[in-house]
Amino acid sequence: MKVGVIGAGQMGAGIAQVCAAIGNQVILCDIKQEFVENGLGTINKNLGRSVEKERISQDEMDNTLENIGITLEIEDLSDSDIIIEAIVENVDIKKTLFRNLGDICNDQTILASNTSSIPIGILAEVSGRPAKVVGMHFMNPVPVMKLVEVIRAKSTSDDTFETTFKLAQDLSKVPVLVNDFPGFVSNRILLPMLNESIFCVMEGVAEPEAIDTVMKLGMSHPMGPLTLADFIGLDTCLAIMEVLHRDLNDDKYRPCPLLIEMVKQGKLGKKSGEGFYKY
Ligand SMILES: NC(=O)c1ccc[n+]([C@@H]2O[C@H](COP(=O)([O-])OP(=O)(O)OC[C@H]3O[C@@H](n4cnc5c(N)ncnc54)[C@H](O)[C@@H]3O)[C@@H](O)[C@H]2O)c1
Repeated sequence: MKVGVIGAGQMGAGIAQVCAAIGNQVILCDIKQEFVENGLGTINKNLGRSVEKERISQDEMDNTLENIGITLEIEDLSDSDIIIEAIVENVDIKKTLFRNLGDICNDQTILASNTSSIPIGILAEVSGRPAKVVGMHFMNPVPVMKLVEVIRAKSTSDDTFETTFKLAQDLSKVPVLVNDFPGFVSNRILLPMLNESIFCVMEGVAEPEAIDTVMKLGMSHPMGPLTLADFIGLDTCLAIMEVLHRDLNDDKYRPCPLLIEMVKQGKLGKKSGEGFYKY
């Protein structure tokens, strides 16, 4: 398959890597040369680590890298079988991209979004090809995590859904059908918990380390909620809470003021070097 991946950040790089590893021709696109190069650097580092740990051979690493091209022009993706979008979690920016992709892509190209929370129907509508639009929500880190929520909008055709579901299976993931609601299943349930843990920090219920320890040892979570929020990116967490709050129209989803403040200060978690912890 020819796969286009747009956005070479933490998710896009991982998606490009797993798609290329099974022999797809992948083109990874971002808005600046340094961003695509960073994405490629992350892939190189991940694959190098897997070779060191003897999970894959040097040949497999080389073949995977050979399957990945980079570009700054979305036009270079126009003959893809599927494009997986993993750009910033902002509805207006995603809408502009889907409108452009609808204009430039071959009629058969499936447009999949890795959005964490934005209803797929909104992106389907602006694309001008609603039957070809679907959600393909990978988990972070993509090469490790098995789950993919495949989000079926009302307009998604059987063929689009089945092709996307099968691609997830070919990637050795476990796809799960989810209907098109804000936050889908994963973030509808996860993000309010992370947001609540941030309220606990803000109100002084306990220190971040203590909150994480409670959830790890008390609830058998593999990672505490504040560490997880830092890994996801606090800007992405805030964007998801804003979508849940607005689209489900319920104040129980209001983003914690401390989360808003940290994003304002540029404390975005692991990717910026500081969030609830320093990296
Ligand atoms: N971080 C997570 O744990 C996680 C998990 C699942 C889904 N997601 C979703 O995946 C998407 C990307 O998240 P991320 O964590 O990789 O973000 P990120 O900030 O690491 O990367 C986003 C990338 O998109 C690029 N970009 C922005 N606008 C663009 C445009 N118009 N065209 C091309 N590239 C553009 C940016 O330059 C950046 O490199 C978001 O929708 C997010 O909600 C994130």
